[in-house]
Amino acid sequence: RPGWPGIIEAYRDRVPVPEGAKVVSLGEGNTPLLPAPHLSELTGATVYLKVEGANPTGSFKDRGMTVAVTHALAGGLEAVICASTGNTSASASAYAARAGLTSAVLIPRGKIAQGKLAQAVAYGARVLQIDGNFDDCLELVRKTAAEYPIGLVNSVNPVRLIGQKTAAWEICDVLGRAPDVHCLPVGNAGNITAYWRGYSEYVADGLVEAAPRMFGFQASGAAPLVLGEPVANPETIATAIRVGSPASWAGAVTARDESGGLFDKLTDEQILAAYRLLAHREGVFVEPSSATSVAGLLLTAADGRLPEGSVVVCTVTGHGLKDPDTALLGLSEVEPVPVDATAVASALELR
Ligand code: F0G
Repeated sequence: RPGWPGIIEAYRDRVPVPEGAKVVSLGEGNTPLLPAPHLSELTGATVYLKVEGANPTGSFKDRGMTVAVTHALAGGLEAVICASTGNTSASASAYAARAGLTSAVLIPRGKIAQGKLAQAVAYGARVLQIDGNFDDCLELVRKTAAEYPIGLVNSVNPVRLIGQKTAAWEICDVLGRAPDVHCLPVGNAGNITAYWRGYSEYVADGLVEAAPRMFGFQASGAAPLVLGEPVANPETIATAIRVGSPASWAGAVTARDESGGLFDKLTDEQILAAYRLLAHREGVFVEPSSATSVAGLLLTAADGRLPEGSVVVCTVTGHGLKDPDTALLGLSEVEPVPVDATAVASALELR
């Protein structure tokens, strides 16, 4: 078989699918675990980035979606539905298209990044927007899927999280150990839950000695897990994690408590600073939500909560091209120059 087969085939023994199921894959997984020299220097840790923007639709959601859509197809469903801040909808529509299923996505009006909307449209999804937030969208799709013949592919569908465990296994397989600390952005809290289950499984099976401490980071305006109570009107520039009432709340708390980890929150300014630093200094362009893990790394390194010399993995969850508007914030016009090499040289202050 040519190349990487996708996460279901790669982890056949750990990611069960129904007997005889046709696997729906776009070649997800096997993403780079990239050393981050600048962040390592800043923090005194050995930092790696798990670059999930390298997945087929540009986010980690593809790991769970290959499993969810494989199950939906095997179960004879003809349509799938999800609520999304953008990435789940992009992924669901792609895998549904691949499987020949219809997809429907429910999004909060005006609150998803343009690239993600473009993806859902391009893959041929039925896109519906509501005047509400992600939490409202999720409640609506749960009710719809309970009453009508359409499969729910949000992470409340447990097979999604089984697929997402594969990121933790890839990290261990590449490093030959688990990191000391794993930093993640947290929105609906499925991913931190899945990573913790993945690491715990490898420890239980004797494949690694110890699991990492799980550090989960939220945006200040959407930090229910940090505050310990749901947020009615979540707000942040990191729209992917603009979630007030995470579905996997209990899983995230288990991850933190069993691992000796922590939750904390970052302001939009701190998130954007990390976003720019990642692109400017590491050459890694991610979406704002993804930079939350790195903003949290910098915060905990600065205040001493991150032990010096730790091996740290920060998952950067989605590609920067998802959200071109944030990248172009503050840019009114690209600098014009005449069609003339001297003018180019002078604009660049070359001598
Ligand atoms: N980063 C990105 C880029 C995301 O899209 C999400 C979640 C998260 C982090 C947080 O992961 O929800 O498992 O804690 N996006 C969901 C969506 C809510 O609809 O695409 P989580």
